[in-house]
Amino acid sequence: MGIFSSKKSSEPIIDNLPQHLGIIMDGNGRWAKKRGLPRTAGHKAGVETFRRISRYCSDIGIKYLTVYAFSTENWSRPEDEVAALMKYFKSYLEEALRDFADDTISIRFLGDMSRFSPELQELMRKNEAMSASHEGMVLNMAMNYGGRAELVHAFKEISKKISAGELSADDIDERLISDYLYTKGQPDPDLIIRPSGEYRTSNFLLWQSAYTEYYIDDVLWPDYTSEHLNKALLEYSKRNRRFGGV
Ligand code: IPE
Ligand code: IPE
Ligand code: MG
Repeated sequence: MGIFSSKKSSEPIIDNLPQHLGIIMDGNGRWAKKRGLPRTAGHKAGVETFRRISRYCSDIGIKYLTVYAFSTENWSRPEDEVAALMKYFKSYLEEALRDFADDTISIRFLGDMSRFSPELQELMRKNEAMSASHEGMVLNMAMNYGGRAELVHAFKEISKKISAGELSADDIDERLISDYLYTKGQPDPDLIIRPSGEYRTSNFLLWQSAYTEYYIDDVLWPDYTSEHLNKALLEYSKRNRRFGGV
């Protein structure tokens, strides 16, 4: 039964679940390579894992889940790999539009969506509109997301307001900058999990993760299970977060 009273329970036995969990869904390519398969097969398997894990997070009562699905730097990959990823995003978003209509999950997208095809952008808009009133877990999908690009975007928006006389330089503080990020209104991530054994942020939630706990797991994302997640959650629940205090 693990650390939760039941898989469907929204009242886990551990009383210190992260309110906001981030996951860097990494290791698809290596997973495929190990099996002698093309990298795209790893991405296909990774989407399945994402389906399972996002459902599990919603079931156990995570309030905000942010998954890193595609970075601003991932456009530099071979054309066929990017094309395959776009194909998988499309079929996932089509399916989400149907499956999440009667669900409580609210889907949002973090990043600059204008770089995606009009068709994908339309699917994103439809998913957000369809689930905007849902009151369960917020599922943030970071796509064409980069922490630096997000800050550049925020600074540009703030500068425009200053030029228009709607803000003054003295108004700029940490709170104001947070309000110009894609995660506006959401709590900072408490825990970020990175599978595949890499010890780096790769440009994920740079501003928001100032005091986030990190958990690195060696397992490759397509092999990631709820047991791996439970282990990370249990360890997180025992960490002593000091936020610079004592
Ligand atoms: C993560 O897996 C998926 C994306 C970045 C879109 P990778 O494709 O980075 O897999 P590895 O790191 O090469 O194994
Ligand atoms: C981070 O993984 C981006 C996503 C998982 C979407 P990468 O595979 O792109 O990161 P690096 O290249 O290992 O730093
Ligand atoms: Mg990778």
